Amino acid sequence: MATLCSLEGKVVLITGAATGIGLACARLLAQQGAAVMLSDLDEAQCRRQIEKLYTDNQIPESAKMAACALDVTREDQWQAAIEQTLRRFDGLDVLVNNAGIYVGGTLVENALEDVQRVQQVNVDSIFLGMKYAARAMQPGGPAGKGGSIINLSSVAGLVGVPGHSAYGASKGAVRLYSKHAAVEFARLGYNIRVNSVHPGLIATAMGDQAFQDFVDIGLADTLEQARALVLQMTPMGRLGQPEDIASMVSFLASDASAYCTGAEFNVDGGMSAA
Ligand SMILES: NC(=O)c1ccc[n+]([C@@H]2O[C@H](COP(=O)([O-])OP(=O)(O)OC[C@H]3O[C@@H](n4cnc5c(N)ncnc54)[C@H](O)[C@@H]3O)[C@@H](O)[C@H]2O)c1
Repeated sequence: MATLCSLEGKVVLITGAATGIGLACARLLAQQGAAVMLSDLDEAQCRRQIEKLYTDNQIPESAKMAACALDVTREDQWQAAIEQTLRRFDGLDVLVNNAGIYVGGTLVENALEDVQRVQQVNVDSIFLGMKYAARAMQPGGPAGKGGSIINLSSVAGLVGVPGHSAYGASKGAVRLYSKHAAVEFARLGYNIRVNSVHPGLIATAMGDQAFQDFVDIGLADTLEQARALVLQMTPMGRLGQPEDIASMVSFLASDASAYCTGAEFNVDGGMSAA
């Protein structure tokens, strides 16, 4: 019997799914029965990851997974990725807007082009993803059953963190974009929920970049010290794992979160509460 948290029958598109949090989401959602389209700049890596998930028995043989290329800053590629998902899995119920980049450095040293680039990747992607997913999911659209859009923000989109102003400003925009879209979609009767997820520091390639940045701006002398600093900032005293974020994404993708929209979900070991 399908439970409230089951994703059986749901079709999911995930961006930035070749590694890190996106890949963990793809694995968990497929384990829970969703058909998952993994997309990334690096489509070949998505394909390799899918093959590995099957050969390592991390997902059942019956799991449905496919890969496509998607640079989230490119409008034409968004349209193509959504069409490909619709064609391949005959629907679209969930979009996980996960792809993102980190730009560190102090505000006084940040270059305008770096700030513009992080906005382009982290914010334009949210706009384009929500636009084309909502067109597909809304009543009368080619998928037409409503759905759930999950946007990856950050603790740095909620509070100030040294070295994180360019990145944090982009993630703050993700938070509010999610709320505006949520209210608009609900009022217009689209039956599409939109929520933002705010991870603390998660053990991925991007997490490593953040540690390096603490060293580069002089907050820590070594990577070990940077790590200790982050653990100090985290009441639960451990780094997050990609799976910690995937669990929240799974809840928001499922009907268990049917009454949640325009909300922010912090998954940060207590960091933002301290
Ligand atoms: N790791 C953390 O500590 C942390 C904390 C808070 C929020 N987040 C957010 O979670 C999300 C995933 O982070 P992660 O740690 O897994 O990052 P990661 O750097 O490990 O992986 C990011 C993935 O996004 C892809 N990507 C980058 N630019 C892209 C583009 N233009 N188009 C398509 N794909 C692109 C990369 O190829 C990569 O596969 C990001 O939005 C990030 O900002 C991460």
